[in-house]
Amino acid sequence: MKIDHTRTPMWIGTSWKMNKTIVEAQSYLESLDLAHVPACITPFVLPPLTALATLATAPNRDGRLLLGAQNAHWGEEGAMTGEVSMRMIKDAGAQLVEIGHSERREFFGESDQDVARKVRAAVDQGLTPLICVGESQAVRSTGDHVTFVRNQVGQALSLMDPTEHGQAMFAYEPRWAIGEFGRKPTIAEVAQVLDQLALQLGDLGNGVQIPLLYGGSVDAENAGELVELESVNGLFIGRSAWSVDSFNQILMRCGAFFPQT
Ligand code: PGA
Repeated sequence: MKIDHTRTPMWIGTSWKMNKTIVEAQSYLESLDLAHVPACITPFVLPPLTALATLATAPNRDGRLLLGAQNAHWGEEGAMTGEVSMRMIKDAGAQLVEIGHSERREFFGESDQDVARKVRAAVDQGLTPLICVGESQAVRSTGDHVTFVRNQVGQALSLMDPTEHGQAMFAYEPRWAIGEFGRKPTIAEVAQVLDQLALQLGDLGNGVQIPLLYGGSVDAENAGELVELESVNGLFIGRSAWSVDSFNQILMRCGAFFPQT
């Protein structure tokens, strides 16, 4: 069955995390095939920062492909060794910036307050923040995971004016489903949380739809079922999109559910 997503574009993208040299990134772009991907799908790639500017100006880049960074600091400039600002990633060609991925929260101690500051800074620079939220297995075991995730959403937007909420995007990415040791969720597990978040985002958006993506063990096998979910506006993929052939396959599978316009 074809879904009517004509009013709701589908975002399908990947973060390469800490992978790929500049040459590897260029070669991925050369083989990325968007010709048969329907117009309602917005593809995006978040390369490592070292490859961002090269990809942004690559002669073979399809203009539909959005690019972004996986993180940036909230400060504008200054003595922040090792950090880059939102202004700098924008200058390098980013349109999106991922904020609050669970690996950043877990390995780099990023708090809800840090996330809120980064969201504020991103919007100030005209970047679209792709804000990641999601519970750990420990939180899920308490049964309070929906409250936990809803709270992360609220915190992330806490420094924004309600009229600005529509400039953000969210990805629900349960920690227990992410990465090599993650458990692939059932479609019902994903739907249960997405439905609740979609209601929350519906209220927060003040009439503007805030896109809600799903990420965590997405692959060519489950991508089709996931894009069919009523509350989903896209997929955010790690490992399964690090090979361009596999990302092409996922885009093709998802594309089959939409009108080919
Ligand atoms: P995965 O990662 O697809 O490799 O599980 C998802 C993510 O971290 O966004």
